Amino acid sequence: MTARDTPAVEDLAQRLRPGFVLGVAAAAFQIEGAVAADGKGPSTWDAFAEQPGSIVGGDSPAIACDHYNRSDEDVALLRELGVDSYRFSLSWPRIQPDGRGSINQRGLDFYDRLIDKLLAAGISPMVTLFHWDTPLPLERDGGWLARSTAERFASYVAAVAARFGDRVAQWVTLNEPVSVALQGYGLGVHAPGRKLLFGALPAAHHQLLGHGLAVQALRAAGVVGKVGVSNMHSPVRPASNTLLDRIMARAFDVLINRIYADPILLGRYPNPPIQVRPWFRALRRVPAADLRTINQPLDFYGVNYYYPVRVAAGVGPGGTPEGNAAAQARLPFHLKDFPEYETTGFGWPVAPEHLGILLREIKDRYGKALPPVYITESGASFPEPGHVSGPVRDVRRIRYLAEHLGHALKATGPGGLAHDVELLGYYVWTLLDNFEWAAGYSQRFGLVHVDFDTLKRTPKDSYYWYRSLSKARLA
Ligand code: BGC
Repeated sequence: MTARDTPAVEDLAQRLRPGFVLGVAAAAFQIEGAVAADGKGPSTWDAFAEQPGSIVGGDSPAIACDHYNRSDEDVALLRELGVDSYRFSLSWPRIQPDGRGSINQRGLDFYDRLIDKLLAAGISPMVTLFHWDTPLPLERDGGWLARSTAERFASYVAAVAARFGDRVAQWVTLNEPVSVALQGYGLGVHAPGRKLLFGALPAAHHQLLGHGLAVQALRAAGVVGKVGVSNMHSPVRPASNTLLDRIMARAFDVLINRIYADPILLGRYPNPPIQVRPWFRALRRVPAADLRTINQPLDFYGVNYYYPVRVAAGVGPGGTPEGNAAAQARLPFHLKDFPEYETTGFGWPVAPEHLGILLREIKDRYGKALPPVYITESGASFPEPGHVSGPVRDVRRIRYLAEHLGHALKATGPGGLAHDVELLGYYVWTLLDNFEWAAGYSQRFGLVHVDFDTLKRTPKDSYYWYRSLSKARLA
């Protein structure tokens, strides 16, 4: 252990239980590029990125990492890295350009080849069915504000399950429905750019319904893989002990964590504090049958953890952790910094102990209803040059990952804070520097540096660190 309690590779390797999965995670829209190739239809993100001012620096996702044309090289990087599993998402509009009706075989073929390449490299595919790139034509019908989108999602899932159900080890229905509902429909800082504030809640409900219907579709297709979902979780703390800050912190916890986890795991929406109950009105009117659909038995539960949040009552200056949202100035609470923590390139607090705290929190909330857990995303961006000609010494990322994995293992190990949580694996976000949504190419999260002019991949020191961890546990 160093002075900062950063666990050494050997120490971490020893604490990895046999069968513990080390992986990396990625998302189609952030890496593939080829946004109009081989019959792919446009997504809400293609349209959003074209609106002036929506993406930092006016960056375009049209090429991104060009993974669509370079998947051989990227699978070779994964194999060399020695990960057990690769979590990636399928682009719905690449597979079903209109979001309904006919299936684009060339889109399916791309993923078919990718899955086979991964299997040939000894890497188990974890497939996310929706990571934010909704087919654009569906947006004209209301997108996720419309119930029909949930039903359409399930039809697309059925087509995918029929093709890949024999080879995919794990299925993730949705990635972070909270981000789509909140950033996309509530604040307008992500696609589709709507600023509906609490009027966005139907987009939460319909994604959750889509999750339930997708699980049913996967089971009906008899897929051999395990089925789960990935939710973002941020432990929420009041900025002070005043009653108002505590109420707003509870309300915020409901808004970003519990609205998504409670119905999936418990089959009901949470009770918000009475003072803010009217905000959540849309969720009180949902049919009971929907909640039964959403509450499907799952084989695992995916947790994406990046940061804790501190909430204060009243309108405040700060934006969302993802960027500044003018719409936020209309909300009666705001987020505050954690001055005690160092921050990432995005300005997010580096708070690894909160990962253990969070696992305790969800076990307390969901008890036996909590399936075994994967950390399906954990990682950080730090300022790095656009062009590199030698090694990339990303010491801070190594420390970040070692400390987050270390806390997750400690908490779930014997005598740990969350010893009763079964932790199955840890996925680093992410393999390649990529299109970081509204931040464009300005935030680099990769274990591998990407030069966005030449598309050259250069493994960073963190890549070699993760590889040494993977090797050390086998020794
Ligand atoms: C998302 C990723 C994103 C990462 C960093 C997660 O919320 O699932 O797509 O790149 O955060 O912002």
